[in-house]
Amino acid sequence: MKVGVLTGGGDCPGLNAVIRAVVRKAEKVHGDQLIGFRDGWKGVLEASTMPLNVAAMRGTLPRGGTILGTSRTNPYKVEGGPERVKATLRDLEIDALIAIGGEDTLGVANKLYEEGVNLVGVPKTIDNDLSATDVTFGFDTAVQIATDAIDRLHTTAESHDRVIVCEVMGRHAGHIALYSGIAGGAAMILVPEEPFDIDDVCERLKARHSAGRFASIVVVAEGASPKEGTLALAEKGLDAFGHVRLGGIGNVLAEEIESRTGFETRVTILGHVQRGGTPTAYDRILSTRFGIAAIDAVHDGAFGQMVALRGVQVVRVPLAEAVGELKTIDRDLYHHVAEVFFN
Ligand code: F6P
Repeated sequence: MKVGVLTGGGDCPGLNAVIRAVVRKAEKVHGDQLIGFRDGWKGVLEASTMPLNVAAMRGTLPRGGTILGTSRTNPYKVEGGPERVKATLRDLEIDALIAIGGEDTLGVANKLYEEGVNLVGVPKTIDNDLSATDVTFGFDTAVQIATDAIDRLHTTAESHDRVIVCEVMGRHAGHIALYSGIAGGAAMILVPEEPFDIDDVCERLKARHSAGRFASIVVVAEGASPKEGTLALAEKGLDAFGHVRLGGIGNVLAEEIESRTGFETRVTILGHVQRGGTPTAYDRILSTRFGIAAIDAVHDGAFGQMVALRGVQVVRVPLAEAVGELKTIDRDLYHHVAEVFFN
């Protein structure tokens, strides 16, 4: 078979490990020819390709990013986009396409599948907010990076008797904030799913400091927002999928905390550091399993499916199920575990 591979959306540690596994099994076991599309859906729209083979993948297992490049291009937002995608696949005689991406990339994949394209999806996002899979690869790495950062912030916060607000990624869901906040011993964790009350945040910090303890780390997801009408936030631009460009809630929060409590407060925005660099061993293994499962799905003709982790098994689920609804945090973990350690 001739199989195309693309990586779309924000890059994520483990992408190369998925591609490597697809290539290895496709070439060595199935005898396939592989074509890499550059920069996500943009590469399919523009027929921009690169050869993919076992030799090209050497040394990529521990490497972050994606050797294919990525973009947030949405073919459904481009004049004649879906037709151009189909024309490229036809001209290059591609039998099937493996799309590795998050909600947006797989949303496009699902629509194209419904229009007759042979597609298999692989779930990717450091945010872990994709439904139908227990976990996406890249999440474990992002949580580890954030946890390491929080550990480091503790010692400097303690030395100066400060509050430090640590802003992590997660625009619609607070999985990274919740996990790294628990792992890093945060005094407060603020997530998009639970709009916060700034008065409550400050009261809890005051109570914590008045009990003779000092230094607090507040972990906030970039998509966290205050309860309606309690704090004004600046408007931001939109990307091709209509997402607001976030980043900045940490600054607002730090200013408010300092002025309301009088505690010296600093902010650290972890940003893209959470997406860069080498994947953890867990993510390398998950990525490898997903890659093997994806090429096997192609050979089984299981199109319109996404590979997913359920418990300890890698299974296939309909793409439609994966992109239907965002997976939000486990409220029980937030309220009955994390919250026990607030203030
Ligand atoms: O890929 C997911 C993500 O890392 C989000 O956590 C974050 O909001 C967004 O991407 C940032 O996107 P960009 O890299 O385009 O600024």
